[in-house]
Amino acid sequence: MLFPLLRPAIFMLDPEKAHRLSIVGLSMLPPGKPAPRDPVLACSVGGLDFPNAVGVAAGYDKDAEVPDALLGLGFGHVEIGSVTPRPQAGNPKPRLFRLKEDRAVINRMGFNNAGGDKAAQRLAKRKGRGGIVGVNIGANKDSADRIDDYARMARLMAPLGDYLTINISSPNTPGLRALQDESALTGLIDAVFAALDEQPARPPVFLKVAPDLEPADIDAIARIALESRLSALIVSNTTISRPSLSSSDRDEAGGLSGAPLRDLALQRVRDFHLATGGRIPLIGVGGIGSAEDAWARIRAGASMVQLYSAMVYEGPGLARRINRDLKALVQREGFSTIAEAVGTQ
Ligand code: FNR
Repeated sequence: MLFPLLRPAIFMLDPEKAHRLSIVGLSMLPPGKPAPRDPVLACSVGGLDFPNAVGVAAGYDKDAEVPDALLGLGFGHVEIGSVTPRPQAGNPKPRLFRLKEDRAVINRMGFNNAGGDKAAQRLAKRKGRGGIVGVNIGANKDSADRIDDYARMARLMAPLGDYLTINISSPNTPGLRALQDESALTGLIDAVFAALDEQPARPPVFLKVAPDLEPADIDAIARIALESRLSALIVSNTTISRPSLSSSDRDEAGGLSGAPLRDLALQRVRDFHLATGGRIPLIGVGGIGSAEDAWARIRAGASMVQLYSAMVYEGPGLARRINRDLKALVQREGFSTIAEAVGTQ
């Protein structure tokens, strides 16, 4: 309730400082209880029972500092990361831009993170707390063998993450998105599952894709996903495209997220739903800021959704608001659960 009053002051701060402040603020809260399972909003993906359909997208809590505080805000799950094997400073600052007039964000953070061991320590400490925390894994920029980085991270995080996400769609690590190409992708997925096969704990694995894909790429990724043991596709990461924007920072390099990504990310959910025939769950991300946005993504084929940028503009009450309004919307539209509505439009 306080957020609208505080927002002007927060927006006077440099965006990266404001982000840091929000993490510190959350870390000082007593960890809340994870959201209780809501029979209308609950969804099952990869064998996990998510209490509701709205999660925190990767990139907000890169180092697993505040997953329990975020779960306490009403999110049905939190995806931490991207985490790379070795700590990484990321790109020079400034690298995060608030496009206020567009309700958008541009970032070229470049996988800044404290490294796999630090995140693993924090996750080990919270183990047994309840709530679904996924781990988004990436490769170091200067790695000689990026596929091996993903395999190492899968091994490290297998006992600690409720699910793992292979992120090959960040635009800010040069060459990373080439891993979405057919031959590289098969090799990468095989390497991750080979690493997991050595482990006693084998969490479900999701793959996060870019929105900037040609129809042939979408078909190839869909085919590979269906032939693999992947449990879901996360659609999508930020875009390198620039739909018409009015903010002064619109020409900054990096990935664009928030409201201007909404239509493109929605279309990609439609594309992947069609290309996979609905045979693999999709998690819709990109420009979601309201129950209506979440509902449109679900009707287009997403089993659940994640968000990040809208939280910058709407504050920490957003998950509860979306869940409350989404529940009303599901029932008003004549469905009894979200699962029934997936891909019905
Ligand atoms: C991101 N995102 C992201 N994704 C990912 O897989 N690994 C990461 O490390 C990051 N880092 C990151 C940093 C910042 C500052 C932003 C804004 C975003 C992408 C994010 O998870 C999501 O896919 C997009 O932001 C689209 O969703 P929203 O923000 O429009 O809801």
